[in-house]
Order: sequence, then structure tokens, then C-alpha cells
Amino acid sequence: MNILTFDSDDKLNEAAANIIIGQIQTTPRAVLGLATGGTPVGIYKEIVREFQRDMFSFRRVTTFNLDEYVGLPVDHSQSYHTYMRKHLFDHIDIPSSQCHIPDGHAPDLHEECRRYDALIENAGQIDLQLLGLGHNGHIGFNEPAHALIRGTHVVDLAEATREANARYFDAIDEVPRQALTIGVGTILKAKKILLAVKGEDKAEIVERALKGPITTDCPASLLQTHPNLIVLLDSAAARRM
Ligand code: GLP
Repeated sequence: MNILTFDSDDKLNEAAANIIIGQIQTTPRAVLGLATGGTPVGIYKEIVREFQRDMFSFRRVTTFNLDEYVGLPVDHSQSYHTYMRKHLFDHIDIPSSQCHIPDGHAPDLHEECRRYDALIENAGQIDLQLLGLGHNGHIGFNEPAHALIRGTHVVDLAEATREANARYFDAIDEVPRQALTIGVGTILKAKKILLAVKGEDKAEIVERALKGPITTDCPASLLQTHPNLIVLLDSAAARRM
């Protein structure tokens, strides 16, 4: 595990963007695993800034997002489809047919999970998986549990997760109770994982995830088993490391 700490948000965003751009430059047909939440917003902004002034292209890149809320139409203001268009896809040259996000509004969610797993399988291995970290140690929407699920599945969101994400909705009642998420098994199969974490409120879970016991009670702790994990922390999130 390679842990890098940054004294500013901008430097962390730049470092993460450089790793992702470097991946695309060395592997033009890269398969990227992408994340949502507050943490990657600045990273995507930096990628877009570099895209606008640099010589690299996403034309042959394929992306798979980690997760999506159940019950939100894809064009809902808080869907992760909308998030990705707003923060990244609308500003780069990637063909939309190469951008994959699970459809949380599909009529048959279990079929949707199978379809999504098959798409990932067909694309071959994910070259680089970007991850954020939930306050309870979730990655994607894999919540703490007695056992973790390998592939894409429907998950009941923990109350703490709904509360954390309520800031994006008008009221907590509007936060979906379920989501579709790729499994920890799929995440761990990525060739390289880039975990980005910011903020004092994540310091304790960062310590548990990276230095604590490997347990399904803290899904991110399983990342300790990955042979190629890069962790980017701001100094607040790194306070207990
Ligand atoms: C969200 C997402 C995760 C994300 C996490 C942390 O619920 N499903 O993929 O990593 O929570 O989000 P944030 O970066 O806003 O703290």
C-alpha cells in the first residue's frame, strides 16, 4: 500500500488526476472504475481542466461507475448518471456508449445487476478503480455486513449513509433507501486501486480501514489485501495515521 498525504485539496486533486490521466496516456483503451460523492468532484474538475489544455483523449476509454440509487430516473438531479454527466462526461470526448452506470430505475433490478456484471466481464479487467470512503467504511455502496457480496447487487443503505447523503436532497425522506453497487469482489479484481479521502470527519475510519483488522464490518479494510493500492489523503484525513 502506498499512502500519500497532501496539505491541500488542490494538490490531492492534482495528484489523483495525474494518476488517472497517466493511465489513459499509457493505456488508451483503459477501463476505468469511477466513483461519485463529494470527494471526486475536485478530481474530475482537474481532469477536465487538463483535458481542455492537453493532448489526451478519452475516445477509446471505457468507464464503469460503482453504484447508483434505486428508484431515481437516470435524469433525476441527484442520480449518479446526472452527477457523472455534470462533473465529467459532458466535458470530455468519451462516447456515451462507453460510459456505464447501473440503472437503478430498471424494471428488474436483479436482471440489471446481471447485465452490469456481464458488461464488466466483457470489458476485461478494470485497469484503475477510483474509490471514495464512506464514514462507516463503505466502498461503492458496500455497507458493513456479516458477509460481502462479490458481484453487482441491490443493497439496503445504512441510515448513516442516508444521513450523510441527505445534504444533496431537499429532505432525508427523499434519499433512496436502496442502491445498486458493484461488489467488493469486483473492486478487488481491479489492477490498481486509487482511494481518495478528505476531511477530519474521515480520520477515524481511515485508520480503521488501513490499519485495523480486515473485516467485513469495515468493507474498506479488505483493500489492505490488494497488491496495488494507492491511498491519497489530505492532512485532516491522515491525522490518525
Ligand atoms: C457515497 C458513494 C461512495 C462514496 C462515499 C463517500 O455514498 N456511494 O462511492 O465514496 O459515499 O462520499 P463523500 O466523498 O461524499 O464523503
